Amino acid sequence: MLSLTKDMETGVELIDTQHKELINRINNLLITGEKSCSKEETQKTIDYLGEYIVKHFNDEQGLQVKSKYPKYEEHKEKHDKFISDFNKLEDEFLKNGNSIDFTLKLNNSLITWIIKHIKGDDVEFSKYYKTQAL
Ligand SMILES: [Fe+2]
Repeated sequence: MLSLTKDMETGVELIDTQHKELINRINNLLITGEKSCSKEETQKTIDYLGEYIVKHFNDEQGLQVKSKYPKYEEHKEKHDKFISDFNKLEDEFLKNGNSIDFTLKLNNSLITWIIKHIKGDDVEFSKYYKTQAL
């Protein structure tokens, strides 16, 4: 299971709270894989996570616009690419159901990406954000 490690903390309350919720929802999905839940149940968990990813990215981008973050476009592109990869994985799941391949991709690409993104891009933005008296 994933947890929010110290090096993933940004110090911006809204972002950290949302990252925790994001990780909870990822863990829910990982559990459905481990328990080999029904396709329907797994589908619900994927949607539950997908919804929150969109909400979180929008909120984060909102803070970037508000604080005139110079790397906003670049950061947004990364979010958009991630959402498109997530949707692809979801399509694959709809076609093939829960498979080892799905679990592997989920673990290797999506989860690895999220951790790297939080530690790198989000921490970097948060440092900037905290310098802006908002
Ligand atoms: Fe981000």
